[in-house]
Amino acid sequence: MYKIIKKVDLTPIITLMEVDAPRMAHAAQPGQFLIVRAHDKGERIPLTICDFDREKGSVTIVTQVVGASSRQICHLNEGDSFTDFAGPLGQPSEFIHKSSKELSEMKFLFIAGGLGTAPVYPQVKFLHSMGAKVDVIIGAKSKDLLIFQDEMRSICDNLYICTDDGSYGKKGLVTEMLKELMDSGKKYDQAVAIGPMIMMKFVTLTAKPYNIPLIVSLNTLMVDGTGMCGACRVSVGGKTKFACVDGPEFDAYQVDFDEAMRRQMMYKNIEVEADHKCKIGLH
Ligand code: NAD
Ligand code: FES
Repeated sequence: MYKIIKKVDLTPIITLMEVDAPRMAHAAQPGQFLIVRAHDKGERIPLTICDFDREKGSVTIVTQVVGASSRQICHLNEGDSFTDFAGPLGQPSEFIHKSSKELSEMKFLFIAGGLGTAPVYPQVKFLHSMGAKVDVIIGAKSKDLLIFQDEMRSICDNLYICTDDGSYGKKGLVTEMLKELMDSGKKYDQAVAIGPMIMMKFVTLTAKPYNIPLIVSLNTLMVDGTGMCGACRVSVGGKTKFACVDGPEFDAYQVDFDEAMRRQMMYKNIEVEADHKCKIGLH
């Protein structure tokens, strides 16, 4: 059992939990994810690792209520435990294989959308510790849904915030901020976009004319997380890949986003029905 040692509600629908998981904290690298089950009959939910503390032996996850299973996770409290907390899974970000000298000469741009800001955080933290230059764009629907802005500000060189409704920072989508930065002559060696699939698709289309190398982290459906079930199948460069073992990070320009979004929608009706039952207390 994996005990929740800290729980903080970051927004009305987004919850941060620090979980006692020493072996995972020891092995985790930026870019990886884990799979949790709230209880023994619960669904297996993939979540990105938001932070890890090797000394303390803890791993931090951030969950947004989007359906029945995420609602069950967010209802757990400090002192409660997860039945399963499996990981770290997937490949770490490619840049962890570069030397600190190489990284200290590189300039990165991260584009974080909504909840995708959580997995961006450990990557920026790692690059900052290696001396890399890092700019970050964070986009959220509104001010009350922005997360990690103070933490991010303390570890990046420039932070650009935008909200869809203009309630904080610049009014507009992350793609508009990206275009503005590129048109102002900013140059980056590597960009990374993490957020909803539709955002990553449009970031890719926006970035392409500027020839910036771009990585995306795919949040596909996942079941086993070990390459056996095929649930996380995606087409990358015309080849079938499994996001759980080959990814979750891929070259954005090679990803078939339309197919990935169609597959993401496959179980939407079942999920809506399950969430309704959860809200009215049937499970
Ligand atoms: P959201 O819908 O509030 O979008 C966040 C930001 O993305 C917006 O403010 C906007 O700037 C940008 N965006 C959204 N649609 C866009 C479009 N069509 N064109 C350009 N920019 C666009 O995001 P949310 O509600 O926080 O997202 C939750 C989703 O993020 C869930 O589906 C979750 O699975 C996903 N997620 C993905 C990852 C990952 O690893 N890729 C990690 C965590 C969460
Ligand atoms: Fe089953 Fe990836 S989640 S193969």
